[in-house]
Amino acid sequence: MAIERTLSIIKPDAVAKNVIGQIYTRFENAGLKVVAARMAQLSRAEAEGFYAVHRERPFFKDLVDFMVSGPVMIQVLEGESAIAKNRELMGATDPKKADKGTIRADFADSIDANAVHGSDAVETANVEVAYFFPALNVYSR
Ligand code: PPS
Repeated sequence: MAIERTLSIIKPDAVAKNVIGQIYTRFENAGLKVVAARMAQLSRAEAEGFYAVHRERPFFKDLVDFMVSGPVMIQVLEGESAIAKNRELMGATDPKKADKGTIRADFADSIDANAVHGSDAVETANVEVAYFFPALNVYSR
């Protein structure tokens, strides 16, 4: 199995709920290591750039509005199959459809305010890690 890096964001709703530590514990218990992290208040330009692939989607403005509504915690997670493992921990995009015990089932309120983001593939992980941590050496092995 490959050691990968993936980009994770704890979104404004989860930061406001004061559950950063509980979410980090889930990463750690799953064998994912935090190799870079920073808290940030995203600008509109940063949020729009990050979600540029969704620019034409009907929810794009709401998504950007939400992502700039408060501070976020951004981290790079490293471990075996880190991308899939993080997505498993997160649960489905819509918390109503997320499996019991996942981050979104436990901490998210709606499809708009859904607690966390995680890269969905090696290519996007590399782009997303570089977007927020340009100085970090990005690799999958
Ligand atoms: S897709 O179709 O697979 O690209 O969509 P998905 O990855 O599930 O969602 C893209 C991001 O948009 C956020 N978002 C919404 N998705 C769907 N419907 C609504 N109404 C909506 N509102 C916001 C969703 O949380 C995804 O954000 P990230 O940060 O990538 O998880």
